[in-house]
Amino acid sequence: MNEPLVEIKNLKTWYPIKRGVFARTVGHVKAVDDITINIEKGETIGLVGESGCGKTTFGRTIIGLEKAASGSVLFKGKDLTTMNSADRKKCSQNIQMIFQDPFSSLNPRLTIMDIITEGLIEHNKIEKSIEADATRLLEEVGLNHEALYRYPHEFSGGQRQRIGVARAIGLKPDLIICDESVSALDVSVQAQVINLLMDLRDKYQLSYLFISHDLSVVRQISTKIAVMYLGKIVEFGPTKQIIENPQHPYTKALISAVPVPGKTIKDRVVLKGEIPSASNPPPGCRFHTRCPIATDNCKQEIPELENKGNTQVACFNTDND
Ligand SMILES: Nc1ncnc2c1ncn2[C@@H]1O[C@H](COP(=O)(O)OP(=O)(O)O)[C@@H](O)[C@H]1O
Ligand SMILES: [Mg+2]
Repeated sequence: MNEPLVEIKNLKTWYPIKRGVFARTVGHVKAVDDITINIEKGETIGLVGESGCGKTTFGRTIIGLEKAASGSVLFKGKDLTTMNSADRKKCSQNIQMIFQDPFSSLNPRLTIMDIITEGLIEHNKIEKSIEADATRLLEEVGLNHEALYRYPHEFSGGQRQRIGVARAIGLKPDLIICDESVSALDVSVQAQVINLLMDLRDKYQLSYLFISHDLSVVRQISTKIAVMYLGKIVEFGPTKQIIENPQHPYTKALISAVPVPGKTIKDRVVLKGEIPSASNPPPGCRFHTRCPIATDNCKQEIPELENKGNTQVACFNTDND
């Protein structure tokens, strides 16, 4: 088998909590706490979990916007977390990120042409001319070249997100991290942007890390789903498997919250309580405080992700052994 496009090993991203006049570090928010996962070429991993579980921090650490506390992110075999800045800049062309709110991530003072060719100019990657390259990129995302000299505020949310996609694909990346990229859009527009992302994936063999709190969106586009809870992945496997035969009680709870037409839900799991704080996570399995099947062991030992069939599950008490 070929080596994975991205190999993430034991990745931890902790934010220090500072107190007092001397800003002493009194603890850490363990936003990403020991994640190991591979992203293969051409696959879309949907990363799903409640707000605050660390999804954005995970994406930002992969692309280098947050510093990892420990662990590694190997991109085509090279560790991004220890690279010098020149190598990192070269590698950074290959990983792009599309954010939730294209309005705040698109500079309001730049024209669309400037926005989508900024990276090309910086990396010396203009092929024909700035205008010709920008026109081609706009066409790729279904926008007319008339958009070139206009400004972000002149476009609708869906169109702005297309502009964000045009900017991301300009440098022909291998991986695009989409962080809640369609969450702010109406359902019909969401579907159009998802279709665009899927077309581009097929055309350019792109890989995506598709982050969303919304499982019904994630399942539309992902080839695999990773379920995250309080800084850790609790289940990871092929989309069909995760949706039709979830094993972790947290995944079951997420799935029972998503209505599926024509399907009645057996063993419905309704979660009690709020997600605990990442600065003071529960010992043992982090989910035990809300888990309907937790036993004493779960309060003390941390379950590792283990192979169960063709999925990986971090739970001591799943039935299908
Ligand atoms: N810059 C930061 N400084 C301190 N804590 C942060 C920072 N960014 C996020 N956090 C905390 O890290 C945890 C994970 O946040 P985030 O990655 O944004 O989660 P998600 O994207 O799943 O909603 C939360 O507890 C959040 O409050
Ligand atoms: Mg987020």
